Amino acid sequence: MRGKINDYIHILSSIQQKNMKPDTQLSHLGRSAVSTPKTVNVPLHRASTVLFDSLAELHETQRQWDLDEQIPTYGIFNMPQALALENAVADIEGGYRAVTYPSGLAAVAGALLAVVKAGDHVLMTDSSYGPGRRFCETFLKRMGVETTFYDPLAGAGIAALMRPNTTVVYTESPGSHTFEVQDIPAIAKAAHAQGAVVILDNAWATGLFFNAFEHGVDLVVQPATKYYAAHSDVLMGLVIANAKTWPQLKQVTYQLGQRASPDDCFLTLRGMRTMGVRLRQHQSSALRITKWLQTRPEVARVLYPALESDPGYALWKRDFTGATGLFSIELNPCNDAELAAMIDDYALFGLGYSWGGFESLVMPADLRYGRSTSPWRGGPLVRYSIGLEDADDLIQDLEAGFSRLMQERQRTK
Ligand SMILES: Cc1ncc(COP(=O)(O)O)c(C=O)c1O
Repeated sequence: MRGKINDYIHILSSIQQKNMKPDTQLSHLGRSAVSTPKTVNVPLHRASTVLFDSLAELHETQRQWDLDEQIPTYGIFNMPQALALENAVADIEGGYRAVTYPSGLAAVAGALLAVVKAGDHVLMTDSSYGPGRRFCETFLKRMGVETTFYDPLAGAGIAALMRPNTTVVYTESPGSHTFEVQDIPAIAKAAHAQGAVVILDNAWATGLFFNAFEHGVDLVVQPATKYYAAHSDVLMGLVIANAKTWPQLKQVTYQLGQRASPDDCFLTLRGMRTMGVRLRQHQSSALRITKWLQTRPEVARVLYPALESDPGYALWKRDFTGATGLFSIELNPCNDAELAAMIDDYALFGLGYSWGGFESLVMPADLRYGRSTSPWRGGPLVRYSIGLEDADDLIQDLEAGFSRLMQERQRTK
């Protein structure tokens, strides 16, 4: 386990990696080069303690730790599974280095804690993931950090909201449930002009469809529970830093003692291998299904930036290289019983939290904790995660749901 960990987990040199297309990276990054026997995947290392052969070796690893070498010293520092995943995801997201967290929400908290101190002000998009928002409103508030929420469409207008003590502008694009596309380069320019750090939750697009760092982001939160792991059997978060924010992220993550388990890193790497083909399939099915949904009389609007009719289409086209399988629909006015009739008996769409897995899910949007600058004024909002089932079957399931909704309306007329 000791020795040059880079040799251990990186089959390919960085020059080779730079010339690789994303699908090749997904197949080859984070693999085992020198295990005995030489296996395709990094063998699973379950360990708390790493043993050293001598005091001299112990001292040498301590020195290398200060130099930021990737040497395993103890279960939470640089162990093979975590390092393989961290380095692979850092490359795929286009950042400098990454750390694992035991969930996406823990990664949201870790990214924020890495860059705030008492007395600071955080600007957070009003469209951000609800529990992350609550972390700011409760935990950060107790720490003496104030958060205000801004219109996700603020763009360069964010400059007017910056205060002398604003140290973080938190973004999520497209936004949770309502899918507003943010002008990340304009926001980053305004934030950097005042020395603030930009954080992006890049769960929807992943580094395959949005290179956050090229658009000015400093820290990426990647809830890898979604498209990276993708099998609904593991919770995983990563935070990816640029070179500027890495020292703070590293310190705070280790101070917090945060680390995902080797088994969960193993499963996430395994999920990641197929992310390219999965995302292309999610995109193709979601496009087909959203276009069909636009023709339905029960649907007032489909919120999916890859549709030309979507208000975020122009920005999405400019900055993203693809769209994934998550979108919402706004239903024409209907009551709770009608909504339940539609959702309760889907055969293929499971009713449950999360998204991005191989299986389709549905969830009514819960905006109770969100939208202080832009309250949702539309009809019932329902979010769908399109899985890898055949799109025809999914359309049939959705169609049956609309029929049940209309039957319930007729029944109570
Ligand atoms: C946009 C977004 N960010 C972060 C998270 C948190 O991820 P996890 O479920 O791994 O804690 C979620 C979960 O649904 C999410 O949708």
